[in-house]
This record gives sequence, structure tokens and C-alpha cells, in this order.
Amino acid sequence: MFIAGGTLSEALGVALTKAYALGFMNAVAHQECISPACGSTYDLREVLVACSRCGSLLDVRYDWGRLPIPRSLTFFEHRWSTKGTGVEGRLDFSGVWRFRELLPFYRDEDEIVTIGEGRTCLQRADLLARQLGIKNGNLLLQHEGLNPSGSFKDNGMAAAFTHARMVGARRVACASTGNTSASLAMFAGLSEMQGVVFIGSGKIAIGKLSQALDYGALTLQIRGDFDACLRRIRQIAQDPKMGIYLMNSVNPFRLEGQKSIMYRVLEALDWQPPDWVIVPGGNLGNCSAFGKAFMELKELGLIRKVPRLAVINASGANTLNELVSRRGMKWNGGDYDATIAQKLYAAMDEADYHPHTIASAIEISRPVNLPKALRALEVMNGVVREVSDDEILEHRALVARYGFGCEPASAASVAGLRQLLSQQVISPDERVVCILTGHELKDPNATVKYHTGIDMKAAQENAPRVPVTGKLSNQPVQVEDDLSRIIKVLGLEQN
Ligand code: F0G
Repeated sequence: MFIAGGTLSEALGVALTKAYALGFMNAVAHQECISPACGSTYDLREVLVACSRCGSLLDVRYDWGRLPIPRSLTFFEHRWSTKGTGVEGRLDFSGVWRFRELLPFYRDEDEIVTIGEGRTCLQRADLLARQLGIKNGNLLLQHEGLNPSGSFKDNGMAAAFTHARMVGARRVACASTGNTSASLAMFAGLSEMQGVVFIGSGKIAIGKLSQALDYGALTLQIRGDFDACLRRIRQIAQDPKMGIYLMNSVNPFRLEGQKSIMYRVLEALDWQPPDWVIVPGGNLGNCSAFGKAFMELKELGLIRKVPRLAVINASGANTLNELVSRRGMKWNGGDYDATIAQKLYAAMDEADYHPHTIASAIEISRPVNLPKALRALEVMNGVVREVSDDEILEHRALVARYGFGCEPASAASVAGLRQLLSQQVISPDERVVCILTGHELKDPNATVKYHTGIDMKAAQENAPRVPVTGKLSNQPVQVEDDLSRIIKVLGLEQN
């Protein structure tokens, strides 16, 4: 059913603002433990990275019955034509906030943070489809590398920075394989907050490191991998005395923003869900957000069909595939068997295993969003696969050859599609959306090495240093994976 845009839009906006003004904030949205056995709830203003009672992940939940929800997704279409630099113009321009009725945790529209993120669209990739043997018109690429900082993370940051502003955060931090740090640094620079990023020493692609430094984030190169960095930053952020707001995807507000990637896919397909959505899996925030988006749209009666999900790991960082495809781990309505993952992690510890893949963005072996990803796989009847580094590199080059450059991790989705076609899990007649998560220029070294054999990364590591004299130079700080040393670098000893 088509609903005339402008008038209803205004009415909905007013209704939402009024709902908050009347003090319904706690009633219409809250944070909730994802474990059905616990289900603890928390006020939106609480800054938490896990359920205080049972340690599980948190969701942002809405009391939809008390919120002004459009009766049809076509409601959102009129926003493409809004213009201007006023609040409505800026929010309607954003590919996240033009769907704001579907993530209504904010208090006031004036408080929303946006930098024009999510102006990405679904691209028809017929030449690539021909290479993969899929029917003309059936392969679509959602190019999230076209976001302002060059990756899908901007969708999540717009939402998480909005929450950070609501709670008065001054210092925001993340552990990152690169793109989260680039996006955080950009949003922090714009929001007058101090950005702090933890990256594994030598683990980050050069384009991403240059962004974090250039946007002025305090950049700590920790001797360790992403999993170690995340463990550390969670430990620090958990202590309220440290005054650090965590921006990793354990932050449930991040995932609210990332739901919008699916709204845009639907919008581009005239609100008809595709048959499949294929996404690379690292820390598993994105696939978790997609699952939540469809869970809610179904609950709201805004869609009938839910697409199937394929999450693609790199073979060198294949925890999800190992757990789901080989060890049979399932969400099971929330009653999942956590010991399956615990056993795998114990074996990894014993073998001193560290993930390794050319797709550095997804070089993660302990994905923190695992339970939410299992839920998404249940909601979207999903599958998990892994692809080798060679497959990733060849498919990255193939995507570029036909006009859509992306970084290595993104190409895992296309390599995964080839595998699923060959296994006849996906048929050439089905309509498939692959998510390209990051821009080609994020990791130029991988591209140059593929085409010329020159290892620019090794060359950079041994390159002679010149004195750093720029007035705004922001050098990374090398630090051991040691709590007291990190706290010292952060200048938090007095707290
Ligand atoms: N693709 C790219 C380009 C990424 O940067 C990431 C994650 C992923 C895929 C995986 O997404 O974690 O939601 O499953 N990068 C994070 C970072 C971990 O720190 O930039 P996920």
C-alpha cells in the first residue's frame, strides 16, 4: 500500500519527538540481553558492553506498539527528494537516518550524528554475473566501500556516535583490523570527541592506518592480533572510571545503524527481498545486524519473505564455519551450546593458534558477535562457508576487472558465491546480493602485489625514516599488550 509521503512523514516525526518529550523514552526503547533465559533490560542511557547479569550480548529493543511505524516500506521513498542542510535535509540525505523510524532510539533529531553515510546503492553486475555463470540481472553488488570513510562501518558509527552523544561521551575507542578505526577516527574528528584506536602491530592495511592517523585518533599499535586488542579495549572500557565509550560492534547501537544496509538493498529492489544476501564474516557484526533487520521487518509485517544469508569466512580465520558447518553449532531459539565454541577456543589456545589471511579485515578468530550471528543464521535460514586466500585474491581482481573495485575481505562474498553455485546451494536463477564491504584503495598493497609481485608492505617496513615535522603529525604509538603500559599511554593513571 502506498502512503503519501510528506504529510505522514511529518506526522511520524512529530509523534516520535512527542513520545520522547512525554518521557516515554524508557518505554519505547531499551537495551535487552539477547539470552531469552536472562532477558535483563537496561535503560538506553546506560553505557554497557555486555549484560551486567549474565555477560551476554545486548540488543536495542523497541516497543513498536507505542511507536509511529510506517504501514509500508514505500513510506521511505519520498525522502530521496528532501533537500537542504537543515535537520530534515541532513537526516533524509543519510542512508541510515532516512530509515530513522526503524531505529528510533534517539531522543531528539537535533542530536543525531550524520556525515552523509550510507549513500550507497545496489549495482547490477552483469559482466561479473556472466563470469560466475549466474543469470543476467541476478547478481547485485551492494557497494558499501562507497561510504565517506570507504567502508560499511560508517553506517554503524552514525548510530553509535548518536548514542555516544546522548550519554555525553568524550572519549571513544575501538580495537580494529582497520576499517572501524578509520570510521571511528573520522566521526570522532567531526564530533569533538577524542578517538583512540587499538590495532594489531603490522596487521592493518596501509590505507586504513593512514586514515586513523590523519583524522587525529590516538593510534596504539599493540603487539598482538585483533583478538588481543579487542580483549584489552573491552577490559579497559568496562571500567567506568576510564571514561571510554566502546565503538566496536559489541556496542548494540552500532548494529542498529548497520541494519540500514538491508533497508537500502530492499529499497533498490522495490521492496522485494532478494533470494540471497552474501557477506564476509569477521567479528560478525554485519551479518548479525542483517538478521536483526529482517527479524524486525517481519515482526512489523513490513515484508513477507526473508532472504537467505551466506556468511563467508577466510580459511585462515574460519571460526564461524568450523563451529556451524563442521561442529553443528546453532542458535536453537537462544538455547545454544556455548561449550562447542569454548572447546574450539581452548584448542586454539593450546596450539597457540593465530588467524592468518590476506584479507586482514577479517583476520579474527574469536568473533564477539557469535551468538547474534547464530541468531541471524536461524532467522535467515543461513549457511556458512570459507574461501582460501587465493580465491579471495582472484575474486577481488575479477570484481575490479568488471568495474567495482573492493578490498580483499569484501571479495570473500563473491568467492563464496562461486562456491555456493558450484555446490548447487544457490541456483543461477536466484537473485543474489553480495556485500562489498570496503573500498579498493583501503589495501593498495594487496592489489600491487597481485599484479606486479612487488611486496610494498615489506618495503615499507624496512624503509628509512625521515624526521616527522608536519604541524599536525600524529604518530602511532607502539605498545606491548600489557594493561598497565596501555593505561599509561592513554594517560589514565590518575583515574
Ligand atoms: N569486510 C571489511 C572490509 C571489514 O573491515 C570487516 C570488519 C568485515 C568485512 C567483517 O565484518 O566484523 O561485521 O563480520 N572489520 C572490522 C574492523 C573488524 O575492525 O574494521 P564483521
